[in-house]
Amino acid sequence: MSKKLFIETLGCAMNSRDSEHMIAALREKEGYETTDDLKSADLILINTCSVREKPVAKLFSELGVFNKKRKEGAKIGVCGCTASHLGEEIIKKAPYVSFVLGARNVSKITEVLHKDRAVEVDINYDESEFAFDEFRTSPYKAYINISIGCDKSCTYCIVPKTRGDEISIPTELILREAKRAADGGAKELFLLGQNVNNYGRRFSGEHEKVNFTELLRRLSKIEGIERIRFTSPHPFHMDDEFIEEFAKNPKICKSMHMPLQSGSSKVLSDMKRGYTKEWFLNRVEKLRSVSPDVSISTDIIVAFPGESDEDFEDTLDVMRKVRFDQIFSFKYSPRPETEAEHYTNVVDEDVASQRLTTLQNLHTEILDEKNKTHLGKIYRVYFEDLNQDYYVSGRSDNNIVIKVKGSDELLGEFRDVKITQIGRTILSGEVVG
Ligand code: 5AD
Ligand code: SF4
Repeated sequence: MSKKLFIETLGCAMNSRDSEHMIAALREKEGYETTDDLKSADLILINTCSVREKPVAKLFSELGVFNKKRKEGAKIGVCGCTASHLGEEIIKKAPYVSFVLGARNVSKITEVLHKDRAVEVDINYDESEFAFDEFRTSPYKAYINISIGCDKSCTYCIVPKTRGDEISIPTELILREAKRAADGGAKELFLLGQNVNNYGRRFSGEHEKVNFTELLRRLSKIEGIERIRFTSPHPFHMDDEFIEEFAKNPKICKSMHMPLQSGSSKVLSDMKRGYTKEWFLNRVEKLRSVSPDVSISTDIIVAFPGESDEDFEDTLDVMRKVRFDQIFSFKYSPRPETEAEHYTNVVDEDVASQRLTTLQNLHTEILDEKNKTHLGKIYRVYFEDLNQDYYVSGRSDNNIVIKVKGSDELLGEFRDVKITQIGRTILSGEVVG
């Protein structure tokens, strides 16, 4: 009988991919199979996120539950970004944890498994050339890391501390992985990195210097690959060459994540984002001029230290001007070992909550208006998920989630779908071609 692995993944797409890597290694080298049943697991892994404070607090209560429910002898491992930043402290607080494995060290999963109380959290460790055997949660879409770490120094962000300096993964390894995914039937690639359009900045050894635009060109030539998505690009690196390739390359999905963070040039400067409100708006204008149907999503932090009413008004102004298709919005949360942790001009908690509500309400209004325009339109959908009640869902090129009545026969297929019903997060339609 195979050993059972229960794995919970929090945080971003990078973490999901790291989990896929760990699952692959544990399966190939240790004979584990995944299970959804905590109580029957021989190994329980939690792949953590530390970008905001709340998930960190949740970790220890969750670990307590795991400890209570686990079967006798089952090991518990803490991986990911909180593992990187808390390290040994985790084992001190929760002595039943068998090992701690940082976000930069996932390739060592099968090593730490056999050591008692191992703590591997070295952020200088270079994982850029390691290759695991294939494990993909979706056969239709291949997530591929193109870089690890982050070289920016945004003053609110813990990520450079948990994932280390930025290193690009050699182009030939990425192309090989993409070809392998295409041979296995994946028609969509999802490229991952903290800062994807900074690709090529630094390789760990002697490698051909390829930038992100060129990488996109090469990937789009792989037979069988019909769609390419990526996250996250940085507005600072959105030069004209990149935006033009994005627009004219038919394989690149017309959906761009542009993390604004704040609409105020002053706050952006305090955050050390490297761009201004005007630059951001200019990039959106350029993007829409060459790719009129592009959908744009964003991340916004409200109540960063020192954010005045006027600064927040600037964020609302950008929101009204850009009319984002999707937003991920957060109240600022001070993080250890970041520059902003020491800022004293903290925004009052009530004001922060109010601003978040105002921002989200404005976005809901915008979305309701935008959604109406989809009714009756036809989108090419790539189906990926089988839902309950005989619904199958997928995404349009510009990232709208659309469901239709249907069976698993549609999975991995492209169809034209006419929108017949509008919801806030998902549209319904019928296949017309
Ligand atoms: N507080 C609140 N939000 C944060 N993010 C990153 N760090 C913080 C923080 N300290 C948000 C940013 C980022 C997203 C992944 O999380 O908007 O783009
Ligand atoms: Fe969370 Fe950032 Fe780590 Fe992703 S990289 S898991 S968002 S802290």
